[in-house]
Amino acid sequence: MVCLGNICRSPLAEGIMLKLIKENNINMRVDSAGTSNFHVDEAPDKRTIANATKHEVDLKHLRARQFKTSDFDKFDKIFVMDKSNMANVLALATNEEHKAKVDLLLNASHPNQDLEVPDPYFGGEQGFEDVFQMVYKACQHIAFA
Ligand code: 4NP
Repeated sequence: MVCLGNICRSPLAEGIMLKLIKENNINMRVDSAGTSNFHVDEAPDKRTIANATKHEVDLKHLRARQFKTSDFDKFDKIFVMDKSNMANVLALATNEEHKAKVDLLLNASHPNQDLEVPDPYFGGEQGFEDVFQMVYKACQHIAFA
């Protein structure tokens, strides 16, 4: 799960997947990262933690890290939140197999529509709830596909 800062959207996606995996005994590994190094080693944004907590998703233990080329070999799928993340991730790919692993997260719930998870960082409270709802639906599709 990849976004820009790894403090709002992608840690939320990681936390939701961790909960779905645990509660349903799914054999899947998940991690998240940011394309930037802006917030490395920081916990998720307080507003993201607060909103996720309302939905019984715990994010407090997560810490931001930067996406790196070796992640392409560690994971079968790389889900990005928006098209800017997509461009940044694809720029680090070194072969076609890497590139084929990358998709927009919302294509899991809305196939072929190329919808983006908007960045809630500079907006208000409602933005965090809207992001939760869309990320949750996409994660359900991934967990139960
Ligand atoms: P995220 O949100 O990519 O969903 O973690 C952002 C967090 C921080 C910044 C931008 C987006 N920033 O510019 O610091």
